[in-house]
Amino acid sequence: MSDYIRTELAGGVLSVTFARADKKNAITQAMYTALAEATERTRTDDAVRVILFKAEGDSFSAGNDIVDFLGMGSGAMSNDLPVHRFLKSLADLDKPAVAAVKGRAVGIGLTLLLNCDMVVVAEDAKLSAPFINLAIAPEAASSLLLPMVIGHQRAFEIFALGEPIDGRTALAWGIANRAAPADQVDAIAADLAEKLAARAPNSVRKTKRLMRDAEQLWALMQRENEAFGSQLSSPEAIEAFTAFSQKRAPDFSKLG
Ligand code: COA
Repeated sequence: MSDYIRTELAGGVLSVTFARADKKNAITQAMYTALAEATERTRTDDAVRVILFKAEGDSFSAGNDIVDFLGMGSGAMSNDLPVHRFLKSLADLDKPAVAAVKGRAVGIGLTLLLNCDMVVVAEDAKLSAPFINLAIAPEAASSLLLPMVIGHQRAFEIFALGEPIDGRTALAWGIANRAAPADQVDAIAADLAEKLAARAPNSVRKTKRLMRDAEQLWALMQRENEAFGSQLSSPEAIEAFTAFSQKRAPDFSKLG
């Protein structure tokens, strides 16, 4: 349970709302547990036809909570952290996932979208995955899914330089289905979710299962986790996280 994740089921749509606006919806391990519970519920609760990820405040999500990272050390290598439970539930998810994205979508805020089926972004949203700036590694199968969707060179630049792309670019590159003014995003995403919830449920699930190889995605997520986890306690990552806490740029010049 987490106060920072709110869920609501209406008309077959399970809305999952990031509700930690003062921290730009950065995701703690407690929040991952709540996210995993919601995503797992889609498998067991026939009343849930669609899952819809959205957010309060001016950011979709600033990604993993970096303060959590600092406290994790080599424990992140294990595959039983709440974040891994959530990733597994995403790999296994066979009902449609829709996302409504306004403002910043950083790290898993972006890679989550690659595991969704329909994505609505604000035209001025800013999507980024600065894994290399943080001296870590991609997660959520993004090392496969991002280059698959937008091409290797664009994906590498997003991982390596960490600069954001806007919502219009996300639409042009195929990360999003729709881009709209920010004040229309939630309504458009809700409308899409409602339409999906009205479709024949078994046909939708079978189609999604055919389009994604859940086992392959989970196997890759575990390999990514090895790279991610071993980086997490490295001197370069500690420098990156410490620099974030101290609101300064990291200095990797003496690390090698
Ligand atoms: N983990 C922990 N805290 C975070 C966070 C994160 N990922 N992202 C933002 N916050 C916190 C900030 O520390 C700040 O806390 P404070 O008010 O106690 O100082 C608060 O949220 C607001 O963030 P701030 O940086 O002041 O907002 P901004 O509008 O200037 O910038 C971001 C927004 C998202 C661009 C910026 O916060 C950022 O770059 N965050 C880190 C993103 C990131 O690298 N995530 C990890 C990806 S794997």
